[in-house]
Amino acid sequence: MTEPTAPTVSVLIDPDWASGSLVDDVRRGLGSRPLRLPPKWLYDDEGSRLFDEITRLPEYYPTEAERAVLAAHAGDVVAASGATTVVELGSGTSDKTRTLLDAFAAADRLRRFVPVDVSEQTLRDAADMLAERYPGLAVEAVVGDFTLHLQHLPANEPGERRLVAFLGGTIGNLYVEERAAFLGALADSLEPGDSLLLGTDLVKPADRLVAAYHDSQGITEQFVRNSLVVLNRELGADFDPGAFSYVPFWDGGLERMDLRLRADTPQHVRIPGADLEVDLGLGEEIQVEISSKFRPAGIRDELAAAGFETVELYTDPAGDFGVTLARLT
Ligand code: SAH
Ligand code: AVI
Repeated sequence: MTEPTAPTVSVLIDPDWASGSLVDDVRRGLGSRPLRLPPKWLYDDEGSRLFDEITRLPEYYPTEAERAVLAAHAGDVVAASGATTVVELGSGTSDKTRTLLDAFAAADRLRRFVPVDVSEQTLRDAADMLAERYPGLAVEAVVGDFTLHLQHLPANEPGERRLVAFLGGTIGNLYVEERAAFLGALADSLEPGDSLLLGTDLVKPADRLVAAYHDSQGITEQFVRNSLVVLNRELGADFDPGAFSYVPFWDGGLERMDLRLRADTPQHVRIPGADLEVDLGLGEEIQVEISSKFRPAGIRDELAAAGFETVELYTDPAGDFGVTLARLT
């Protein structure tokens, strides 16, 4: 039997970078109106744990819908991509990804798996789990930011192809201009013939969307509130998370869920680590996360604008979630 190969973990985010980047993001996001925070700061250890709980909530359909798509079509993806390296961006626990990796293993194709995430402990735990499960597979985990560090992804060996998996609908957490920049940077970091496997949640009636982000157990609310706890801990801020109401709503014009925290009282908040003080009026809102929902034509067009040709859009039987296989031309 092949012995498990210990995973390697490269840390591209050094502690100074991470705190410096948080300071920049907080100054930019809370230093002017509208108030907003970039979603990558939601995923400290507690945030990653809460997200994992979210994926098991009865109302949160995307995880199981995407798992069903992968179970049905992983073999097609293996064959069509011809990849021997899989890079996973925003990999988290890489739980669903095992369905894909199992199909690569069955075809005896995969040489290297490169999960990339900002959440270091979650990534390390996932890398250990994968190295154990796939003996002989080189697991080269990267602690990094997919909006900044794509140029550090491993290059192809001659004649090899890479598949970049970006699952879960995480692309929908980027604003539309950030999505274009991200897809452009991804295309720049790949070679023609490399593939992208992109998970996107699809537009559907508002009641189901709102239920998925306003669950009856309040886990999503805790996840969103945790952003203020992160600012208190990392930047010495004095937010009182209990003084905000959770306000999730469907923005039908922009076709996205909009997750906000609304100040229940006027508040003066100090954020010494960012050298910032913020006065929040009664009812003023901080946009903590957006989660855009997509239509097939829109996905194809955004990919095409970055140089990716859609090979196939796979959906689950209910048509809730889409997984697009695209190839860089
Ligand atoms: N792919 C998994 C996890 C989705 S949750 C799934 O489908 O279930 C989003 C993940 O992206 C989290 O693990 C979070 O830590 C990571 N993430 C968010 N912003 C990131 C960024 N800018 N760079 C790298 N990882 C990021
Ligand atoms: C990671 N991302 C795709 C999740 C989503 O559905 O937008 C994050 C999330 N936020 C609240 N619930 C889940």
